[in-house]
Amino acid sequence: MPLTRRQMLVGLSGLGVVGISAGLGARYWLGRRADQVAAEYELIAAPLDVELVAGALTPAWAFGGSAPGTELRVRQGDWLRVRFVNLLPVPTTIHWHGIRLPLEMDGVPHVSQLPVLPGEYFDYRFRVPDAGSFWYHPHVASAEQLGRGLVGPLIVEEREPSGFRHEATLCLKSWHVDEQGAFLPFTVPREAARNGTLGRLSTINGVPRGTVDLPAGQIARVRLLNVDNTATYRLNFRGNAQLRLYALDGNPIEPRDFGKEYWLGPGMRACVAVKMPAAGEEIAVRDGPMRLGTLRSVASSEPGGDWPRALPPNPVAEPDVAGAEKLLFNFEWVGSVSVSGDNGRPPSFWQINGQAWDITDKTCADRPIARLALGKSYIFELKNMSQYQHPIHLHGMTFKVLASSTRKVVPYFTDTYLLGRNERAQVALVADNPGVWMFHCHVVDHMETGLMAAIEVV
Ligand code: C2O
Ligand code: CU
Ligand code: CU
Repeated sequence: MPLTRRQMLVGLSGLGVVGISAGLGARYWLGRRADQVAAEYELIAAPLDVELVAGALTPAWAFGGSAPGTELRVRQGDWLRVRFVNLLPVPTTIHWHGIRLPLEMDGVPHVSQLPVLPGEYFDYRFRVPDAGSFWYHPHVASAEQLGRGLVGPLIVEEREPSGFRHEATLCLKSWHVDEQGAFLPFTVPREAARNGTLGRLSTINGVPRGTVDLPAGQIARVRLLNVDNTATYRLNFRGNAQLRLYALDGNPIEPRDFGKEYWLGPGMRACVAVKMPAAGEEIAVRDGPMRLGTLRSVASSEPGGDWPRALPPNPVAEPDVAGAEKLLFNFEWVGSVSVSGDNGRPPSFWQINGQAWDITDKTCADRPIARLALGKSYIFELKNMSQYQHPIHLHGMTFKVLASSTRKVVPYFTDTYLLGRNERAQVALVADNPGVWMFHCHVVDHMETGLMAAIEVV
């Protein structure tokens, strides 16, 4: 039986499903013991009816009693400990997108761990090396599980004050629902072979045309997270505001003017500093010409501050570009070749270097597409041979974007690169994390119909 939001707040302990003390779905222990610096949470995934369409309930799945899920926060260098409790009717895992962590904590079923069965729990514990905006989501039946709302922000705070006194997290997601709030198919083969299946109702933090209040005259750090299955947001703002870009995908950049628009592909994040206008004024957050939501300026008596300096760099190893070995990855569309969908297998529309990942085959990771030597530097040449964009994401390691055939690149570190149609790009990394790491497109439909591979570091 799905929980309503009110029941969730009343307390899960009343359900008597598991022997845990649960008030809210997630708890943040502010008290930190000196010897063990950690943020500890108990995070419950459970069905939750949400009101996306006025007067109608949508049977979502939620982390910590909200969809998108509870914001988890931890300080850079500290431990994050999450007891994850699965009260869903299906097996699942949590993957910590963009966090460099040991393989056993990476949440990939049958590679990092076995799926967490209904009624069971799993303890995730790892140290977070990098500060920035990250997010978490399952890596099992992703189209449905992320589609139903199992996505959440993970904010890693800088060790020292960043200079920002105000901030807001905006999770962008578009829901596959009809006018009555009922779910539509999360994936349609015809769409999976193209851009991926788009949702119909855009939201900010789970609210259509959501509004976030920020103090007038202050410079606020606005973290925009694309937690959507499919959509690339052509992010832009309208209103009387100055905007500067401070970080991309969890890594600082040299602050620069936001410019006209920024394309935020699925899985990607942007940290934008916004100088809020006078009280009562609004800034529209937009996807191309479409308004997604609003930043509203509210009265503040605080004196206005200055633009903070650049955020401190994360301790990511600098690749040796001159001495790096080059590897070529071709991303191809093969829709016409093997449209199957029979034998209970998903159709296969996409390949990396001639190999399609099959999400129903638990042995795919035994055949990695590349083997990297621990400690060595590599340049990946990413070649998009299709007419569709692919946000290419790597687990376990952060890479540096060096160059692109279609745009001017100021080199920067990231975990996801939006590879445009027919684009070639070069990215470099130090293979410094041993394990078998997923390398995939973050358009969930693409990843589930072939565009995924494993890269082994030994
Ligand atoms: Cu958001 Cu495989 O990752
Ligand atoms: Cu990831
Ligand atoms: Cu793709």
